Amino acid sequence: MKQYKTILVIESSCDETAAAVIRGSEQRVQLLSNVVASSADLQAKYGGVIPEQAAREQLKSIIPVIESAINDSGLRIDDIEAIAVTQGPGLIGSLLVGVETAKTLALVWNKPLVPINHLIGHFYANWVVQNQKLRIKNKASQPLIPNSRSFILPIFPIIGLLVSGGHTDLILMKDHGKYDYLGGTRDDAAGECFDKCARLLNLPYPGGPQLSKLAETGDPKAYKLPRPMLDSHDFDFSFSGLKTAVNNLVNKSPKLLKEPGSLMLSDLAASIQASIVELLVRKTVAAAQRYNIDQIMVAGGVAANSCLREELKKAFHGQVFIPSPNFCTDNAAMIAAAAYYNYNPQGPLSIQANPNLSL
Ligand code: KG4
Ligand code: ZN
Repeated sequence: MKQYKTILVIESSCDETAAAVIRGSEQRVQLLSNVVASSADLQAKYGGVIPEQAAREQLKSIIPVIESAINDSGLRIDDIEAIAVTQGPGLIGSLLVGVETAKTLALVWNKPLVPINHLIGHFYANWVVQNQKLRIKNKASQPLIPNSRSFILPIFPIIGLLVSGGHTDLILMKDHGKYDYLGGTRDDAAGECFDKCARLLNLPYPGGPQLSKLAETGDPKAYKLPRPMLDSHDFDFSFSGLKTAVNNLVNKSPKLLKEPGSLMLSDLAASIQASIVELLVRKTVAAAQRYNIDQIMVAGGVAANSCLREELKKAFHGQVFIPSPNFCTDNAAMIAAAAYYNYNPQGPLSIQANPNLSL
């Protein structure tokens, strides 16, 4: 394996088009640029992601985003040693845009291509330095994975909780590229539950952050909502019953929705959030106890939820790693960190987008 790796990274699994350039040397990786273009505003108009529309937006953004990432890095194409790309899982149309672009660039520029699993990529946001603010067009950028005492890197073994719009999974990560799957959701993902409940409350898309904001002024104990599978003694989750309970409640008390700014609505939002967070925290801490592990890391869009962040830190006495909120949702920096630590270049023509890629 080469010691110095300058990698252009492309991520296009859903409604964000992202690219980054990193340079790794020994134990230090620098994020030279990090660009994200989102079509979330457009999706908000329709109350969710329409796959074909997301793919069309990816097509519009992919070249400008890659160009910006290369320009911001201050490097020339010749300086880039490899290209990494999110191979899956995700929306097939969106993935194809990133993967086919990466394959074409790898062929034309004669660079190796590193395929990365998006779910694993989310975990690697914990190897991205917190509170990072890249200067535009910076050359001497800040470290992505600094070799400094001020930033602690996760040390294996570590329990990982992935909570995104499409996934809720618990893993035991033993080393880079080595992990055991402990459990996951049997129906809806945690982010999906946030989004579906938010929709029942007539909140705009994306619902998770909106519901979380509304919950700030509510009483989490106001409504008694179910905690499905809380005592199941395994590491599986189920969220669809919670969504049904909220649906029944809203149908029984239509006046809840007639007063959008009411305290009752905030109470309901806080109660929904408390239920989801308790399920996530209890199972994650139980996994750490079962395997006698003193480090937990969280990843995925729902990891941006402040209630989850606080409750997990309160409930667990070991070290809790959570990426800064801008690295919880989809971005190329996290895929870059995954590519650096799992550097496995392949011939461009051997890689295919895989919407069903699993952990
Ligand atoms: O990881 P992500 O950006 O995309 C996927 O790979 O799915 O996650 C998106 C999910 C959405 O369901 C969104 O509502 C949720 O993360 N989310 C939140 C918050 N921010 C994003 N859920 C609760 N509270 C938040 N603050
Ligand atoms: Zn994601």
